[in-house]
Amino acid sequence: MTQPSLLDPPGTDSPSDDPTHLESVSGSRPETHDWWREAVTYQIYPRSFADSDGDGLGDLPGITARLPYLRDLGVDAIWMSPFYCSPMADAGYDVADYRDVDPLFGSIADADALIESAADLGIKVLLDLVPNHSSDEHVWFRQALAAEPGSLERARYHFRDGRGEHGELPPNNWKSVFGGVAWTRVTEADGTPGQWYLHLFDPKQPDFDWDNPDVHADFVRTIAFWVDRGVYGFRVDVAHGLVKAAGLPDWDVDLELLQSWRDGDQDGDQPRAPMWDQDGVHEIYREWRRVLDAYGKPARILCAEAWVEPVERAVRYIRSDEMHQTFNFDFLECAWQATKLNHVIEHSLAVSASVGAPTTWVLSNHDVVRQTSRLGLPQDRPRPHGIGAGDPQPDRALGLRRARAATTLMLALPGAAYLYQGEELGLPDSTDLPDSYRQDPAFARTGGKSAGRDGCRVPMPWAKDAPSFGFGPSGQSWLPQPEVYGDYAADQQEGRPGSTLELYRSLLQTRHQLALGRGRFSPLEAYAGQPDVVAWRSKGAERDDVAVVVNLGPAPVRLPPGAQVLVASEALCDDSSLPTDTAVWLTL
Ligand code: NOJ
Repeated sequence: MTQPSLLDPPGTDSPSDDPTHLESVSGSRPETHDWWREAVTYQIYPRSFADSDGDGLGDLPGITARLPYLRDLGVDAIWMSPFYCSPMADAGYDVADYRDVDPLFGSIADADALIESAADLGIKVLLDLVPNHSSDEHVWFRQALAAEPGSLERARYHFRDGRGEHGELPPNNWKSVFGGVAWTRVTEADGTPGQWYLHLFDPKQPDFDWDNPDVHADFVRTIAFWVDRGVYGFRVDVAHGLVKAAGLPDWDVDLELLQSWRDGDQDGDQPRAPMWDQDGVHEIYREWRRVLDAYGKPARILCAEAWVEPVERAVRYIRSDEMHQTFNFDFLECAWQATKLNHVIEHSLAVSASVGAPTTWVLSNHDVVRQTSRLGLPQDRPRPHGIGAGDPQPDRALGLRRARAATTLMLALPGAAYLYQGEELGLPDSTDLPDSYRQDPAFARTGGKSAGRDGCRVPMPWAKDAPSFGFGPSGQSWLPQPEVYGDYAADQQEGRPGSTLELYRSLLQTRHQLALGRGRFSPLEAYAGQPDVVAWRSKGAERDDVAVVVNLGPAPVRLPPGAQVLVASEALCDDSSLPTDTAVWLTL
């Protein structure tokens, strides 16, 4: 008997009222369904995916050539990190032209070809929209530098006079996420030291002033430009940062490095940081939602990268007239501990449901240590911001085992999910990258205090015995690939039972067939009170109940009598019980 669930996905109370729930039939994917509520999206980091021309940097034709691999993997959509014109001070998150492709990655024709090929294979394409800041080489910023203080050109960014007798001190005490001061002083046209401009990230990433109507109009233009070319929406970079508190007041809480993307308001009794999660930001997303809704069905969507706490604040980004998805970073950051995971799952689903939105699960991206490496470290400390050769090294086998179990858990959860390229191969971070190769501005701006994010950005291994493991034809790769990557290459895993690639393929295929992304979710009563077990039941229309059970404890765990195993992250024990750090999907 299935228990009534408090965690039913939005609309499931009265399915007849909800067009998104009408067709909850295994395997059927009608056009009218809100695809984004359960889609699995694969993040491509273009510079590291596939290099077609041998320059050592991935490119759009390289991606297009590998799309059949993604179709076979079974993903619904891809999100591509920026490939726009950029001086690459932050690997393309410093955009000089939002409506053109950087020649390093190809051309507009290559982007069109990619979008068309993806559509032919049934894969939707999402792009990365970077609205908090542009590059300092964007035409508007160049114009701003050439213009007078107080000019219309400067009003598109945050230019301010400095403090101190001669304006020699920054206008406030904000720090850059990448380390150092968040302001840079410019030299005026007459050669004198002048105003300062704000950059929450690198000095080459000046923040836009979203009070300025030009900025609004230009982003609407950019959105239409790409949607008209066939993309299905955008992941929105630093979605919680666009609006700053009036007057740019000082902020004395020490927010360091990437952690400062979190607004530090866990328990709700701290003042809100003046640069993050300001209420005014939501008006921008309402404006964009109206633009996207005008395209009709299938929906064109927005997914927020909003490092906002608590989750009650984060879901404000996915109210019905704003964005569609927001990454659930609580899940990504959760320690490998059953009670914590259970809490995050239950709470996230309940709070998302309160605004009628799905939860969007994620374990890795291009900014965080990959889950295989993260989960191979002791779980009693916060996650590291990069791992350097001098840091404690992850236990690779343990990390992989847990990562496989974590993904098996994640893909059973109702809602949407994102995968990061290479996680389907079980790739670890490169943790012994020589400093001379590091390109993340966070490494340089902290004087090496933060190893930075290069370790999770190393190019993909496709073929063990090919130059650069098949990344490109020349053997070059912009970051060196660790020797061990050869063992993880796709050609070593394809068709090999038990490989991580085949595990991902089975999970995605089964998830689709059983429409797990639409399941009604409730705790699996058989494991109530077992502190090392994560166990949930998914009830779907016209199918048997499916359970996901994860054992995080030291002793094997018995499975419910009569249960049929659908997919397991590792082999079960001889007596069919569930070993440590293993997850399984069962029909009940
Ligand atoms: C978030 C992106 O994911 C990250 O890579 C980038 O450095 C910052 N935003 C700044 O754009």
